[in-house]
Amino acid sequence: MDTTQLTTGFTKAFGTAPENLYFAPGRINLIGEHTDYNGGHVFPCAISLGTYAAVGANAQNTLRLISGNFEANGVITIALAQLDTPKENLWSDYFKGMAQILQAHGAKFTHGLDIYIYGNLPNGAGLSSSASLELLAGTILNDRFAGGFAMLDLIKFGQKVENNYIGVNSGIMDQFAIGMGQANRATFMDTNTLTYESVPVALGNNVILIMNTNKRRELTDSKYNERRRECEQALAHLQTKLNIKSLGELTEDQFDQNSYLIYDPTLIRRARHAVWENQRTLKAVAALKAGDLATFSHLISASGVSLAYDYEVTGKELDILVQTALQQPGVLGARMTGAGFGGCAIAIVNKHAVAAVKTAVGAAYEKTIGYPADFYVAEIADGPKAL
Ligand code: GLA
Repeated sequence: MDTTQLTTGFTKAFGTAPENLYFAPGRINLIGEHTDYNGGHVFPCAISLGTYAAVGANAQNTLRLISGNFEANGVITIALAQLDTPKENLWSDYFKGMAQILQAHGAKFTHGLDIYIYGNLPNGAGLSSSASLELLAGTILNDRFAGGFAMLDLIKFGQKVENNYIGVNSGIMDQFAIGMGQANRATFMDTNTLTYESVPVALGNNVILIMNTNKRRELTDSKYNERRRECEQALAHLQTKLNIKSLGELTEDQFDQNSYLIYDPTLIRRARHAVWENQRTLKAVAALKAGDLATFSHLISASGVSLAYDYEVTGKELDILVQTALQQPGVLGARMTGAGFGGCAIAIVNKHAVAAVKTAVGAAYEKTIGYPADFYVAEIADGPKAL
């Protein structure tokens, strides 16, 4: 993105020039979906679309925040002495939540800051605009006030903001993917131990095409929490005989041999997704490392089927994008990405086929759903940074 827009926006709002510019990416998840709260593995990467900030000091002991995406909200002023206040259901809650948690962990904010924010992640598209803003806030405050927090601290704080301040019971994947992002690499992470490995995403002649349903994820939070509960219930049934702490500890065979303990068709399907998806993620990463793109892509498509039929988090918009994409020449694999219920899907596509795939999938989508989808070729990018 051209950063002039940032400096102009800042100057228009605050009448001075900014001192620093920052960026935090969004994320896509390649495979390992709905495994992060089940003690499983994930394999996401940061993308070049994300959230930008222009920052300068102020002498008023306040955070003055304005977003170029929500200009109607104007400048939001938060006194540094009053960071510890409830959320206001504004975009600035993510920033305030991070400031609050850093302060609670000993950060000293010795002066105020003026901050102009602008994001180029499509709104509500499931590419983690909220985690992007959290990590952006953490990076700015850590940098400007020499907080000395490690990236892993900021990642954990971001998840706490979601869970305890915003009220979404999400796992740690989004913040981790963003915080640990590296250009052209994805983060293979064990959510049980937080150990991780950065793996090159070498796709040869292929690219990752992001397909946006443009359907906002209204049901996400309630359905998301419902899936978490269902997995916890299934785990509790398994624990009547098995000595396990999470579904991520089971192989496919161990699950199949013990699924009779669950006695409920819905809970069996939910848990089966969590177990098989974790194992698929291990296999997919091994395949990618071995340069076996066909297997990697088939596992991505298998993940999509499991999310649609066992986990039931897709819906007709994501289904039509994925199913139509899979019928096109040059498409190796496709599935939804993120929480589901709208948002985005991804496809691994031969770069010479991208234009034709966009046209065919776009036409089928608009004909069935009644409004257009959007497409972007993903660039796998670095994590949060000063520009
Ligand atoms: C959302 C959550 C993540 C993860 C995904 C599903 O993005 O924030 O923690 O659970 O859904 O994989």
